[in-house]
Order: sequence, then structure tokens, then C-alpha cells
Amino acid sequence: MKITVVGAGAVGATTADNIVRKELAEEVILLDIKEGLAEGKAQDISQTAALLGFDSKITGVTNDYSQTAGSAVAVITSGIPRKPGMTREELIGTNANIVRNVAENLLKHSPDIILVVVSNPMDTMTYLALKATGLTKNRIIGMGGTLDSSRFRYQLSLRLNASPADLNAIVIGGHGDTTMIPLIKHATWNSIPVTQYLSAEEQQQIVADTMVGGATLTKLIGTSAWYAPGASGAAVVESIVRDQKKLFTASVYLEGEYGQQDINLGVPVVLGRNGWERILDLPLDDEEKAAFAKSTEAVRNMNNVLKEIGVL
Ligand code: NAI
Repeated sequence: MKITVVGAGAVGATTADNIVRKELAEEVILLDIKEGLAEGKAQDISQTAALLGFDSKITGVTNDYSQTAGSAVAVITSGIPRKPGMTREELIGTNANIVRNVAENLLKHSPDIILVVVSNPMDTMTYLALKATGLTKNRIIGMGGTLDSSRFRYQLSLRLNASPADLNAIVIGGHGDTTMIPLIKHATWNSIPVTQYLSAEEQQQIVADTMVGGATLTKLIGTSAWYAPGASGAAVVESIVRDQKKLFTASVYLEGEYGQQDINLGVPVVLGRNGWERILDLPLDDEEKAAFAKSTEAVRNMNNVLKEIGVL
């Protein structure tokens, strides 16, 4: 099996590193537009094989899509972060053109590919990839909720002094500081609702800390994070290629689920060999429904920018 990762920057290279360590494919292609970058990072990762003991082969290429032919899955991390003075429309315009171009190139060489979209604004980029490629909806998966849910479990583990692995907690909605919805009332600690152990104030604080999880790291590091995003991307790929049927929050195309149409949003899905295979419709209370509606509106406004700037 072959897996491609597009973008050899911080997130792309870390995703590829996790993929080869887990030996998810015999062959991994790391592709970047910047001359030599993917080759260099792929060689660096390859030089850990003797120490870590993996057999997956990773090859870096500069914009040569013929090397990606026959990929089962591709992770798209290419794009730019917002620069000072840049408008939201300019950022979307730049990343939208990159994501559209990358998705079309991948499809030319791997018509049955499953795309995992990471580039931001992720829900809108996932929607664009779906519309631009015409791939069946189950083969387009936006990665964001997996990361946000992992950060939610981290915040819960700190407060409860518990193992993150014992905690079940998910974040749904858009992948943004104000659009994500950490579902604390549904969170459990080995099947016991965590709300039993947390005061209302503690619950609010955990939700707030989860929502600014990415922004907090950007402030500390000076740029956006990559270890948890890379591990999250690889976890999504693992469930697909190993047909694990794991439940993750992913941004998928809604056609009536959660009362929404024609939009990609983060909801709990089963991930397996065919991409996302099933959406779980959660019973939301009025407060959660209102938050979901607000999140939907924000993502829809962002999607409309694609039309305004003529990318869709
Ligand atoms: P980065 O700047 O380190 O890497 C981006 C890479 O994309 C660069 O190496 C650049 O040369 C490459 N690139 C640009 N245009 C390209 C093209 N047309 N073809 C191939 N490669 C191209 O950025 P980083 O930190 O890796 O982030 C990547 C993206 O992922 C950003 O949009 C970021 O906002 C997003 N992100 C999303 C997360 C999520 O949970 N969905 C989490 C973290 C980051």
C-alpha cells in the first residue's frame, strides 16, 4: 500500500513520521512544492528507521505527482498560515487554490483515493475538496475534531488526575476556537459521566481551555502546533487503512444529519476501509443544538467566501 502526505512542513512531516513509525503502508510519499524540502525531511525520517525499527519506506518528492500514483490515502497539509496584514479572504483564497490544485493532481494519479484534509480553514477546505474533485462524500474526511477531542481529553485528565486513555470525550462542530463544541455532558471516565466529579465552574473552565487549545500553543511556541496534529492525522489514516472502525470526530458532508445540508462539519463518524462509513447522530440538548447552529452559520459564511472569490 502507498500513502501520500502533501506538505512537508511541520504538520505534514510529523504526520508522515507517525505513519512510518506505525508501519501503516509499505511506501509513503512526502510531497512539497518547495524544492528539496520533502526530500530532506524524508531522508531525515528514514534515518530513524535503524533506531526505531520500522520497515516502511518514505520518499520525498518536489511537486511530482506521478510518484503518488496508486495511493490509497492522501493527507493534505499544504497551505500557508495567515501573515500580518492579511485578510481572511486572502488566506482562504491562497489556501483554497492550493488545496484545489493538490486534490485535483492527486486524483489524476489515484482515482480511488481517500483524502484527509488538514489545511485551514479545515471545514471549508474539506468542503472545497469534495466539490472540486467530485469524489464520493465518504472518501473526503476533514481532520480537526480528532485533534480537538484529544486536547479535550488532555484537559479533562489534568483536572481529574486521570489517564487520558481512560477518558471518552468528543468535540463536534467547526474546527475553530469559537466554533468547536466540547460535549462535556457526554464525556465519561471509564463509563462514568465526568460531570459527577467536576463542579459547574470546573466544567466551564475545561471547555474554555479546550477551545483555546490551539491558540494557547501558538502563543507559547510562536507558530501553530504539530505533534498532536501529526498524531491525529496518522490516527485517522490508521483507522482507514487498518479498517479499525474507530469512532472519531471528522468533518464530513452532511445531508440532513444534525439538521444540516450541504456543509462539512465535525460529527462523530466510523472510519474504515471505505473512508467514513457511518455518522452517529447524537441526541443533543437545547444548549448543544444552539451551539451547533451557531457553528454551522460561521462555517457556512466561510464557505460562501469560496463563491465570492470565485474558487467554487
Ligand atoms: P507549514 O508552513 O509548516 O507547512 C506547509 C507546507 O505546505 C510548506 O512546506 C509549503 O511549502 C507547502 N505547500 C504550500 N503550497 C503547496 C503546494 N501547492 N503543494 C505542495 N506543498 C505546498 O505549515 P504547518 O504548520 O505544517 O500547517 C499546515 C496547515 O495545516 C496549515 O493550513 C495549518 O493551519 C493547518 N493545521 C490544521 C490543523 C487541523 O487540526 N486541521 C492543525 C494544525 C495545523
